[in-house]
Amino acid sequence: MKKNKSKILEDYSKKVSLLKKYNKEYFDKDAPSITDSKYDSFKKEIIELENKYNFLKTSKSIQNLIGSEPSNKFKKIKHSKPMLSLSNAFNLEDMKDFIKKVKNFLKIDRNNFELSSEPKIDGISAALTYKNGRLIKGLSRGDGFVGEDILENLKTIETIPKKIDDKKVPEILEVRGEVYIGKKDFVKIKDKFANPRNAAGGSLRQKNPKATSKIPLKFLAYAFGELKPMKFLTQSDYIFELKKWGFKTNPLNCVVKNFEEIQNNYNDIENKRSNLDYDIDGIVFKINNLNLQKRLGSTSNSPRWAIAYKFSSEKAVTKINKIEIQVGRTGAITPVAKVEPVTVGGVVISNATLHNEDEIKRKDIRVGDIVSIQRAGDVIPQVVSVDFSKRGKNSKPFEFPGKCLCGAITVKETNTSTKKQDAVRRCLKGYDCDFTAREKLKHIVSKDAFNIDGLGKKVIDQFWDLKIIREPSDIFDLKYETIKTLEGWGDLSIKNLKNAVEKSKKISLSRFIYSIGIRHIGQENAKILASYFSNSKNFLILFDKKNISQTLIDLADLDGIGETQIKSIQNFLSNNKNSFVIKNLVKFLDIEDHKEINKKGKLGNKTIMFTGGFKKISRSEAKSLAENLGGKVLGSISKKLDILVVGESKPTKKKIDKAKELKVKIFLEKDWYKFLDI
Ligand code: IVH
Repeated sequence: MKKNKSKILEDYSKKVSLLKKYNKEYFDKDAPSITDSKYDSFKKEIIELENKYNFLKTSKSIQNLIGSEPSNKFKKIKHSKPMLSLSNAFNLEDMKDFIKKVKNFLKIDRNNFELSSEPKIDGISAALTYKNGRLIKGLSRGDGFVGEDILENLKTIETIPKKIDDKKVPEILEVRGEVYIGKKDFVKIKDKFANPRNAAGGSLRQKNPKATSKIPLKFLAYAFGELKPMKFLTQSDYIFELKKWGFKTNPLNCVVKNFEEIQNNYNDIENKRSNLDYDIDGIVFKINNLNLQKRLGSTSNSPRWAIAYKFSSEKAVTKINKIEIQVGRTGAITPVAKVEPVTVGGVVISNATLHNEDEIKRKDIRVGDIVSIQRAGDVIPQVVSVDFSKRGKNSKPFEFPGKCLCGAITVKETNTSTKKQDAVRRCLKGYDCDFTAREKLKHIVSKDAFNIDGLGKKVIDQFWDLKIIREPSDIFDLKYETIKTLEGWGDLSIKNLKNAVEKSKKISLSRFIYSIGIRHIGQENAKILASYFSNSKNFLILFDKKNISQTLIDLADLDGIGETQIKSIQNFLSNNKNSFVIKNLVKFLDIEDHKEINKKGKLGNKTIMFTGGFKKISRSEAKSLAENLGGKVLGSISKKLDILVVGESKPTKKKIDKAKELKVKIFLEKDWYKFLDI
C-alpha cells in the first residue's frame, strides 16, 4: 500500500516536470515540442490523477500552475496606500443600505449622492506609479498591503503608457486598474489555463517578461493610489483625465444620481454583459466626490465610499429531493435543500440554502417541489421560488425540527437592540455540540483566522470523524504518525502540514480574538478589543475572573462595541466549556502583543475620548478622523486619557467632571474642528 503510494507520487512528479518543460517551451522559448491537442490530453491526464488521489492535491497542484511557473522571486514593495477589496450588494435594498451608511457616517441627510458607475472587470489589479510622467514602479496587489514588483512584466502590456506626455501631469501619479484578457483572446489560449482571470494572473507573474508578452493582456484604469499634487474634485474628473493621459478607461463608465438611475444602469449593463469582450461580475459604484471619499475612509477590509453591486448570476430549475439541517459555528440552524444536481453558471449545484424557518414558511417550500435556484457571485446558491403548478397532490408543508442535530433544544433569541425575535434558530451548546464544534474548528483554521494551509474544511471533517481533532488545541498537538497512515497523506504533505501548523502558532492578538469565534466579534471588533486589552495576558484574565462586570462596562464604552457584542462576550464567557477549550489552546500559542499601526500624525500616541453628539460630523467620522491622525479612541476616562472632546449635544457631565479632576485636556466641539482643520 505504502509502496504503491510512493510509486504514484513518483509517476505524478515525472509528469508534472514534463508539463513544466512543455510550458517553458511554449512560453519562454516559443518552441513547443508537442501539438496543442497532445498538450491538452497530457494535462488532463495529470488533473485526473490529482482528482483520484487527494494527496497529490497540494498548493502546487497543476490546476494552479499557469504557463511557465509563476515566480515567487519578485521583490516585495509596500503599497503607498493599501489595495483593499470591496463590499458587495446583491439587490437594490443593499444599495439603499450602503447609501444609508454613507449618510450616517457623514451626517448628511440627502439621498441623491453622485455615484461613479464602473463595470467590475474580473481580472487582476495592478498599481502603476509615474514620476513626472515616467513609469517607474509597477506592483501587483499581493496581500493588499505589500505587492510584488512586476514592473517589467507590466511594461509588456501595450495599453499601459510608459510615458505620459503632458507637462501638467502630477509629479507623482499612481494609477490603479485591472489587468485582464479579452474573451476572444482567451479562446486562443484557453487550453492552457483554467479561466481568463487565471491566465491574466499567472502570466503577469512570470519570471521572464517575454512569457508575459505572449499573452494578449490589457489594462483598464479606474483608481488612484498616491497622487501629488492632488487636483481632482471627483472620480469622474479623474477618469476623464486618465483618458487624456493615454490610459484606457471603460467606455461604459458613467455618473448616476439616485436609486432609479442606479437600477436602470445596473439593468442596462447586465443586458450588455454577454456582448462585452471581457468578463464582468457586477458594477462598482463609488461616491463621486473625492472630498467625501476622503472623509468616509475605509474599514480594515474595504472603503466606505464604494460598493460592488453584483449581478445575480444564472438561474436554473431543479427538484428538491430532501431538506436537511446544517449547524453553523455560532449554532445557527440552516435548512439546506438537497436538489437534483443542475449546472448553474458552469458549476454543478446539488445544495441550495433555504436561509431559515421563516423563509421556508414564507415561500412555502416543500420536499418534492420544483424550484428555481440562483447563484450570485461566490455566495451559496439559494432557492428563489417554487413552481406551484408542478406540486404533487400529496405534498405536505415542511416541518422544521425544533432540535439541533445534537439533540439539544434550539431557540430563537431576541435581538438586544431591535427587541425583535431572530429569524434564525440556534443551538446554544457551543463546543458541547459536535456539529457546532466541527464548524468552529473550520473557522479557526480559516484564512482570516489561523490561516493554516493544508488544513481546510474537508480535512477538518476527516480528522473530526477520525477523532484526530476534537477541540482547537488538538490542531497544535497533531498525531502525525496516525495521519501518516491515512489514505491521501504522504511524507511531503505531512511535512507541509507540520510547517503550516508551526507557523500559525505565532498569531496577533486581534487575529486570535477573531479566531476563537465569539458571535458578533468580527475582524473589526477583534481589533478594537485587541487595542483595548493590548496583550493576551490582559485578555485572558476575562476567562479566570469571577466578576468581570466592570470590564464589560468598560468594554461597552469602546467605540464600535455595543450591547449586542457585550451580551455575546458575556454568553461566551459564561460557558465553562469555552473557557476550558480556550485555555487549552493558548498553551500552544505565541500570541503577539497588539501593535497600533498608525502612530504618526498630530495625535500620534495620544488617547482621545468623545462625549456627546457632534453637530457637523458623526461619531464614526470623529473616531475615524482621530485614528487617521494616529490617535487611539478610548471608551472610559482614566489617567491614561489625554484628550476629552465634548460634543454640543448632550455631553455627560459626569465625564467632564472626572476629566477635570484627572487634569485631562478638554476640547469643546469648535476647538476640535479648529484642531483638525475642518
Ligand atoms: S476600486 C478599494 N474600481 O475589484 C477599492 N475596483 O473587489 C477597490 N475592480 O481588487 C478598487 N473594477 O481588482 C475598483 N472600477 C473598479 C474595479 C475594481 C474591478 C476589482 C479590483 C479590486 C476588486 C475589489
